[in-house]
Order: sequence, then structure tokens, then C-alpha cells
Amino acid sequence: MSNRIAVVPGSFDPPTLGHLDVIRRAAGLYDQLHVLVVHNPGKEAMLPIAQRLSLLEQSIAESDIDGDVVVAAWSMGLLVDYATDVGAGVLVKGIRSQVDVAYETPMAIVNRHLAHVETVFLLPDPAHALVSSSLVRQVASLGGDVSPFVPPAVARFLDTGNRSA
Ligand code: PNS
Repeated sequence: MSNRIAVVPGSFDPPTLGHLDVIRRAAGLYDQLHVLVVHNPGKEAMLPIAQRLSLLEQSIAESDIDGDVVVAAWSMGLLVDYATDVGAGVLVKGIRSQVDVAYETPMAIVNRHLAHVETVFLLPDPAHALVSSSLVRQVASLGGDVSPFVPPAVARFLDTGNRSA
């Protein structure tokens, strides 16, 4: 297991500019980065996993993110099983607020106990500190313009009303 390989996991429902900021910065910190769309058993999804994967791939391809970045999906079990399979010793998460700290801390502790995988938290760029997928879902569902909050590929997709959840 390598501390030079990291996983950025999330629901990405849909991917936001905040996600892209974390991915860009994590790609600069690790030799290989796996951006992983994971089913969150505690959330009702708007988009199917395959759609989120496709939007993430397009968003990263159209961005200035470089380096060894793998985009994948995981619905087969524990997140740490994926990390172990690819030899990743680190999970990277974005932390926007104390609410995120409270939400992420138990998961980080459980993941370390399950598989000795550490979690590294990145603080947000202030420009993205208040952006969340749940707000984007709400604005989009009510017909609002989400383009200030999401990568262009996601804005195009949501604008065309192609949502199939
Ligand atoms: O973007 P999210 O919804 O905050 O991401 C949460 C996610 C998907 C990373 C988390 O729910 C998760 O790790 N799910 C996989 C199941 C798992 O491994 N659970 C045990 C450790 S918390």
C-alpha cells in the first residue's frame, strides 16, 4: 500500500467546481490519483452512477488537471476494498465547514480501523466553500442556473434536461 497513491471518493451527484478544486490539488500532491464515484447508502441519488462517472471524466478532460488521474466507479462494497485493490494508502476529502468535519471524522476513523487507510482533508478554495451537490440538485430541479457552481460539462448536461434519475 503506497502513500503516493490516493483516492478521492464521493457521490459526485453531480460533480461541482468544489470537487474539481479538490481533485486538481490532490493530483498535485500524489503520484497517482483515483477519483472514485461511490454509492452512498445514506443518500437518495439524482443521477445514476454511470452518468456521474461520465460527467466526471468529461469535467476532468476539459479542465487543466494533469497527472496520473484514474476515474472509476465502485459499488461492490467497502471503499477501503477499492483503495486496497489499487494499492492506495490515502483517501482525500474536502472539508468546507464544521458540519463536514462532524460528517467525515467517523468515516475516517472507521476506514483507518478497517484497512489502515489514512484520510487527508483539504480545506476549500474560498470561491467554492459554499458549493454542494445537494444545493446544485435543488437549484437545477427548480430550473435555476447552476453554471456558476459546476464544471461546464455538468452545466451543459443539466441545462439540456437530460437528467434520468
Ligand atoms: O460525497 P459523499 O456522499 O459525502 O461520499 C460519501 C462516501 C460515498 C465516500 C461514503 O458514503 C462511502 O465511503 N461509502 C462506501 C461504503 C463504505 O465504505 N462505508 C464504510 C466507511 S464510512
